[in-house]
Amino acid sequence: MHCVACQSAIDPGDSWCSSCGVAVRRSEPDNERRFVTILRADVVDSTGLVADLDPEEAVSRLEPALAAMRGAVRQFGGIVSKELGDGVSAVFGAPIADDNHAPLACHAAIELVRRVVGLGDPGLQVRVGLHSGHVVAYMVSSEFSKVYEIGGAAQHLAARLESAAEANQIYVSKACQELAEGHVRFEYLGGKPLRGFNQAVPVYRIVGASDLSSWRVRRARSVSRFVDRTTERALLARAVESARTSRRTVLLLGDAGIGKSRLAHEFVQELRSHGWRLIDAECSPNLQGAPFSTLKRVLLSALEMAAKDPDSPSDPRKDLGEIAQCALDAVLDLPTSNPRWSQLEPHARGRAISDASCAVIASIARRQRTILLLEDLHWIDRASDAVMATIASLQAPGLLVLLTSRPTGMPVWIARCHAEVVAMQALDDDSGLAMLADMLGPSAANDDLKNRIISHTANVPLFIEEVCRGLRDSGTLHGQWGDLALVRPRAGHSLEHPGRDRGAPRSRVAPGARHPADRGSAGTTIERRHAA
Ligand SMILES: Nc1ncnc2c1ncn2[C@@H]1O[C@H](COP(=O)(O)OP(=O)(O)OP(=O)(O)O)[C@@H](O)[C@H]1O
Ligand SMILES: [Mg+2]
Repeated sequence: MHCVACQSAIDPGDSWCSSCGVAVRRSEPDNERRFVTILRADVVDSTGLVADLDPEEAVSRLEPALAAMRGAVRQFGGIVSKELGDGVSAVFGAPIADDNHAPLACHAAIELVRRVVGLGDPGLQVRVGLHSGHVVAYMVSSEFSKVYEIGGAAQHLAARLESAAEANQIYVSKACQELAEGHVRFEYLGGKPLRGFNQAVPVYRIVGASDLSSWRVRRARSVSRFVDRTTERALLARAVESARTSRRTVLLLGDAGIGKSRLAHEFVQELRSHGWRLIDAECSPNLQGAPFSTLKRVLLSALEMAAKDPDSPSDPRKDLGEIAQCALDAVLDLPTSNPRWSQLEPHARGRAISDASCAVIASIARRQRTILLLEDLHWIDRASDAVMATIASLQAPGLLVLLTSRPTGMPVWIARCHAEVVAMQALDDDSGLAMLADMLGPSAANDDLKNRIISHTANVPLFIEEVCRGLRDSGTLHGQWGDLALVRPRAGHSLEHPGRDRGAPRSRVAPGARHPADRGSAGTTIERRHAA
């Protein structure tokens, strides 16, 4: 190891260079190549804004905008990797991998602009640039601090997009737009000349958020018929049987893209055709900080379902007491002017909200067998979490609570409510091939390609879909879904490129989870756990 200033040899344990006294800077050995989204934001014409001010005044003029930027980045799970005096550079998807990095960065950018505009200082306007791409991420330690550094060309495009953006607008690269499409609405601005780029760069502008869950986005794109999952379905069928006499709770647990939502929705469809009623809601990463946001969705779905019940429309609220009705109104963001409600302590209000929510669900389940499907529990807000724990433990015959969650962020109460945990794993080879036969067609000419996709994706359905879509988008596969052929069939075709450019299967693995390709076995196993 050598000193960065005088190049003298340094002992690995030293904090200072013994020759010139400069502090030792260490970059940690585990530099990582990551697929991330980079956000760049700055204050428009900050130099003009502070030109006539003392340094202290200049700092306090810009500080509220910087604080708003930091807050928005943090709210959506990003980290500010660099402060630039009048702006920030932030990263989403590292150091902790998150497959949702592009939508999260877009939501953070929308919130960032909202916060700065909300400061009410017409002189303070921001512009934001977003790009998704590969970077090298590493920690740099000095004697006083550790800094998370990002390196690579991807940063430059984010910075150029920021410079090109109009006041209070967010400009986005094509790579980021493709990953966030469905979650956010975009307007295509055409190709723009950007400094340092030889050709015009396609630029998109964020128009607003649509807040669709990953399942809703994927459902619209999915092209394969449902395959496999026989063991899981048998287990769910058994849970349905026992739900006739007492409430059952089942959790589908597994990594991103493994097929939790698809299984849940296929199963729910079947139950509905047998007369079961459905209450369904999703937890959103964008609303994790908003108290009762998930519970509000659950209640809205429950009340709507009861009101539209074809056999006997009802309003489960009408049998509730005055305080319980206020509790529901509070969750639903309806005005409440009841003085008894206003005087309640926060703890008592929380209790009333929990009791009223349980009463609504139990009343619906009493009238008709009901399935409550709550998706993406790993993103539930804390206030709703406590109420869901109670709902998932209700003594209510005719109620099946079906939950989905990634392993990281699984609520602790799952063990307490005697939930059956179905640990979902990748498809087996035959099912992966069946999916591919649906997408590419049955032709034996694609057999080699299919086998290579199977081993490349380790039979994770989302990755199978992404690789096929990537090959089709890049023109490597030609034709319609269900009848695709290789344009230039050859044995050594690379599968890396499409997957990585479209969002990198590896980067989509939930924090802490291993990429399925790293696993030895792709077989389906079920794990049943009955906690005391
Ligand atoms: N058994 C299956 N047969 C055919 N397609 C499947 C199957 N399972 C999943 N898919 C497809 O794979 C994609 C990913 O599945 P899904 O959205 O259910 O994953 P998930 O486990 O819910 O992921 P996340 O944790 O991100 O919500 C979807 O487009 C889905 O239609
Ligand atoms: Mg899902």
